[in-house]
Amino acid sequence: MERILVVGGLSGIGKAATQNLKQSFLVETLSRTEYADPQIKHHSLDATDSNKLKEYFKNYPSYDHIVVTAAETPIGSLESLKDEDIIKAINQKLLLSYYVARDIPWEKSIILISGFLSARPGPASALQSAINAGIEGLTRAIAVEKAPKRANCISPGTIDAGLWDKINPNIRATIMEKAKSRTLINKVGNPLQIAQAIRFAIECEFLTGETIYVDGGARFGC
Ligand SMILES: NC(=O)c1ccc[n+]([C@@H]2O[C@H](COP(=O)([O-])OP(=O)(O)OC[C@H]3O[C@@H](n4cnc5c(N)ncnc54)[C@H](OP(=O)(O)O)[C@@H]3O)[C@@H](O)[C@H]2O)c1
Repeated sequence: MERILVVGGLSGIGKAATQNLKQSFLVETLSRTEYADPQIKHHSLDATDSNKLKEYFKNYPSYDHIVVTAAETPIGSLESLKDEDIIKAINQKLLLSYYVARDIPWEKSIILISGFLSARPGPASALQSAINAGIEGLTRAIAVEKAPKRANCISPGTIDAGLWDKINPNIRATIMEKAKSRTLINKVGNPLQIAQAIRFAIECEFLTGETIYVDGGARFGC
């Protein structure tokens, strides 16, 4: 059975990917949380600490595939975010993805997660748009540099789970209503829909260097 590591696999999109993939793969998870589920091997590590990652995985057998859903990025307008928050966000998503791709051994494919704001900026999305575009560029570069190993990126639209679980329910409901109205199908997404795209990217051996937008057409909505 092929082995997959889901970095960020305990919540939101990563959790849905873990649940979906464990039906056909041997799945392990990695995040900062200490976690003991006898069914799934979990590595408690901060993936922004590249020295620890290297040391920890030095003698570890390579994974067949790695999925990176881990991130922690503040949302705010160009002027509102402080320098330290901007640097932290780049570290917590773009550099984290870079470190994982470089420091955890993998043999067949890696799946990174960006977000549709790379292609459809909003009124307060400069940081997210830049980081997500960076992730998409990183994916293409890894695909070229590591060929014939494959690298692909899934770019979700607004998914009503995961990072939104930390937001006040009333504010979250307003954001979801607005996000719905910006799609072509008047819906926000759920984590399983992104997990299905992740599975496709893992299983389709002719796919590499690609970004798949799973956003309900939010790039084209009004
Ligand atoms: N939800 C959406 O609407 C949406 C839309 C577009 C794009 N995305 C992107 O999709 C991805 C997943 O989002 P989500 O909503 O599922 O978020 P989430 O529920 O907040 O999950 C992020 C996961 O990353 C882990 N993590 C954060 N920093 C880490 C670190 N330094 N080392 C290891 N693990 C770390 C967290 O676990 P620990 O706290 O245990 O470390 C958490 O499980 C993110 O890249 C997000 O930007 C989400």
